[in-house]
Amino acid sequence: MDCTWGLDDTVNASDIPKALRCATRVARRAGSLLLRHLAAPKRIDLKAHHDIKLELDRRTQRLIERLLRREFPNVSVLGEEGNVGDPAAAWRWVVDPIDGTVNFTRGIPHACVSIALQRRLPGSSGWDGYESVVGVVWDPFLEEMWTARRGARAHLNGRVIAVSDTRQLRDAVVTLGFAKSAASVRRNLPVFSRLCSRVMKVRIMGSAALALAWTAAGRLDAYREEGICLWDIAAGGLILECAGGEFHREPLSQRFTYRLWATNGLLRGQLERAIKPSRRR
Ligand code: IPD
Ligand code: CA
Repeated sequence: MDCTWGLDDTVNASDIPKALRCATRVARRAGSLLLRHLAAPKRIDLKAHHDIKLELDRRTQRLIERLLRREFPNVSVLGEEGNVGDPAAAWRWVVDPIDGTVNFTRGIPHACVSIALQRRLPGSSGWDGYESVVGVVWDPFLEEMWTARRGARAHLNGRVIAVSDTRQLRDAVVTLGFAKSAASVRRNLPVFSRLCSRVMKVRIMGSAALALAWTAAGRLDAYREEGICLWDIAAGGLILECAGGEFHREPLSQRFTYRLWATNGLLRGQLERAIKPSRRR
């Protein structure tokens, strides 16, 4: 067995295919809740200026936790809606029960379930010292199952996927995310306006996990967000990497939060130059 697995034996290399199958099954079960409730009235637990929390966010996460823990009772769960066990353990599931909650609340069928299995990297200790080993994103509305296992190719509904070969900004379709804080919205507006004039199209679609999966399949060429959370990107980031893309993230001072560039691996330099404030301004 690969000795890099020896950090902790909660999960070992031979469990990984089982973990991928388990996450896939659990994501489907959770997705059926989303499908059933898309058009129904929903109970809102919290409404902020740029964010909504539904009772269903929590209920879906509880379902995911119960099903994951049934097969992997010793692996903790770090989720958007809370944790089970130690979120700093050597192995952890990272779960977003509904990614795209605002879309889902309004009946817009662009949302998904995201589940990753992460392990702590040898020698690291902080919240960011992990890598995803399994990633599953389930879009119950398009019936698209995006999957990846570290070291293997990424798949959409069982077929291998790969990033685009777009090399020029003028040909690129780039998606942006506007995170939940007013400060991040303010910081992103100039990025939006600079990119609009340089790329073919900018899209803002409202689900980070799907933005990553769609970049992995070449539907989009790049995705940027500042202030994005770990649970939004843990599964999709691995899917992108396993499809040949670049998942470039910088941890921010707020725990579990990143500045993210996700690209087909060919565009980041040009994109970063394009969003720099011009000296003439
Ligand atoms: C949000 C979505 C959105 C992104 C936000 C996230 P949620 O997740 O992924 O695309 O721009 O930053 O918070 O709240 O729908 O789970
Ligand atoms: Ca999310």
